[in-house]
Amino acid sequence: MIDTRLKAVSKYVVGERLLDVGSDHAYLPIYLIEQNKIKYAVAGEVVKGPFENSKSNVKGYKFDDKIDVRLGSGLSVIQKDEQFDTITICGMGGPLIASIIKEGISYLNNTPRFVVSSNVYGESVRREMANLNYKIISEEINFYNNKFYELIVFEYGEDDLSDLEFKFGPINLKDRTNLFLLKLQKDKEHLQHIKSQIEQSSKKTDKLEEITNDINLINQVINHEY
Ligand SMILES: C[S@@+](CC[C@H](N)C(=O)[O-])C[C@H]1O[C@@H](n2cnc3c(N)ncnc32)[C@H](O)[C@@H]1O
Repeated sequence: MIDTRLKAVSKYVVGERLLDVGSDHAYLPIYLIEQNKIKYAVAGEVVKGPFENSKSNVKGYKFDDKIDVRLGSGLSVIQKDEQFDTITICGMGGPLIASIIKEGISYLNNTPRFVVSSNVYGESVRREMANLNYKIISEEINFYNNKFYELIVFEYGEDDLSDLEFKFGPINLKDRTNLFLLKLQKDKEHLQHIKSQIEQSSKKTDKLEEITNDINLINQVINHEY
C-alpha cells in the first residue's frame, strides 16, 4: 500500500507523535503505527473527500484510538498545547508546503522535526524554513511514478546557506547521488525545451534570461564547478 517515496519519508520520522499534513489516504501514519515506529498520529486533511478516505482507512485498520483524522488546513489542526515530534508534509509543490508552514507556524507548541517531500521547487521550502530558523539535516531525491521528489529533513537550529545551496540543496550538492544528477539532467532538458519555444515565438520576455540563468546554474552543478 505505501509507496517507495513515502517509505523513504518514514525513515526520517522520529519520536512517538506524528502530524501528517495533507494525509489524503492516511497511508503514512497507518504504516508507521503498523511498524510500531510511532505511538500516535494526527492525519490532517483540508478536502472532505480525502478526509473521508483517511477516516475509513484508519477505521479499516482499527487504528481509531491511535490515529486522529482531522479536517482542517495545514497546521491549524494542532490543538492548544498539543506537541508533535515530527511533522510530515508530502506530495505537494514546494511553494504550497512553504505557505502551509509559514501560515501555520503560530499553531506550533514546540519545535518538531519537519520531513517534507516536494515534487517541484524545493527551494521555496528551504528559504521559508531558514526564515523560521530551521536547518537542513538530511536530503535525498526519490523517483516515483515518473516524477522526482525532493525529500528534505529540517530540525530547529541555525543554518547559513548560499543561493546555490538554497536552490539545489546543501546535502544534494555534497552527495551528488545518481538520482540527483539525473533530476538535474531532466530539469535542464525541460528548461531547454521551454527556452526554444520562447525563442521561436515573437514575444521575447524576461523569462528567457531567467531560464538561461537557470540552465547555466544546472550546468555548473552537473560539471561540479562549485
Ligand atoms: C497529492 S496529495 C499527497 C498525499 C500524501 N501526503 C502523499 O504524499 O501521498 C496532497 C494532499 O494534500 C491536501 N492538501 C492540500 N493543501 C492542504 C492544506 N493546506 N492543508 C491540509 N491538506 C492539504 C490535498 O487535499 C491532498 O489530499
